[in-house]
Amino acid sequence: MACADSPLTHAELVARRFGARAAQYDDHAQLQRVTAARLAAFIKGHGGPPAQGLVVEIGCGTGLLAAHLAGQACRYLATDIAPEVLERCRARLGHLPQISFAVLDGEGASFPQTPAAIVSNLAAQWFHDPVAGLAHLARQTSFFAFAVPLSGSFPEWEEAFRVLGRASGLLPLPDEAALNDALTTLSGHIAHFETTRHVIRYENARAFADSFRGIGADQPRPGYRPAPIRPVLQRFARGMDATARVLYGLITKETA
Ligand SMILES: C[S@@+](CC[C@H](N)C(=O)[O-])C[C@H]1O[C@@H](n2cnc3c(N)ncnc32)[C@H](O)[C@@H]1O
Repeated sequence: MACADSPLTHAELVARRFGARAAQYDDHAQLQRVTAARLAAFIKGHGGPPAQGLVVEIGCGTGLLAAHLAGQACRYLATDIAPEVLERCRARLGHLPQISFAVLDGEGASFPQTPAAIVSNLAAQWFHDPVAGLAHLARQTSFFAFAVPLSGSFPEWEEAFRVLGRASGLLPLPDEAALNDALTTLSGHIAHFETTRHVIRYENARAFADSFRGIGADQPRPGYRPAPIRPVLQRFARGMDATARVLYGLITKETA
């Protein structure tokens, strides 16, 4: 916890932003809902989560992925860095006897008992170092499944700023090649990847921006200076397709 006069850490800032929007998260989380279903199907396609042992979810949010997976697990621990968000997850899924909840910074987390599986949907891009954070989590279990948005996402938005000679305020996202390098070279592990483009149609530029603001994901990239964006609003006045590139990954431990 930061002292009154010390600046917030990256993790504290992220927790605060998501926490402040917890009540409205589900109304705006279109992409997260789609990727949660896709990640659950991806896991199922690889045999499903382990039937025995503890499944830990990192950055569970309001429980969009847990709603798919917790019912199949023997024990499911839903964790998030933002307590207000975690309470929404508890309200959604707390009736399940096998689920428990914990506030946890998942970046660099270690566990007293080795989890049978770790899962995470669209959370690791908020780590200070997503590539190292994902590789670390992969080492904590024999079954690590995740979805993460990739650099090159939302090209429509980036292009609208590029033609103005500017860069958008979107946070940089993890680089696919760097993730591949880090996760395919983990000793004793096998990586299965699938990259998917999800296109979501928004009514206009404002609706696209609100899809970030509405869930608390509107922290701008470092150094971004807000400036009028009238030409961007005009460009998308009749609608906007926003393309997210999402990496689905499953890292399993090689059996001898
Ligand atoms: C875009 S939301 C996704 C939430 C949920 N997985 C879903 O698909 O709806 C990102 C979530 O990650 C959480 N988060 C961000 N950084 C985190 C960290 N270091 N450790 C744990 N959770 C984190 C946020 O609080 C937020 O709930």
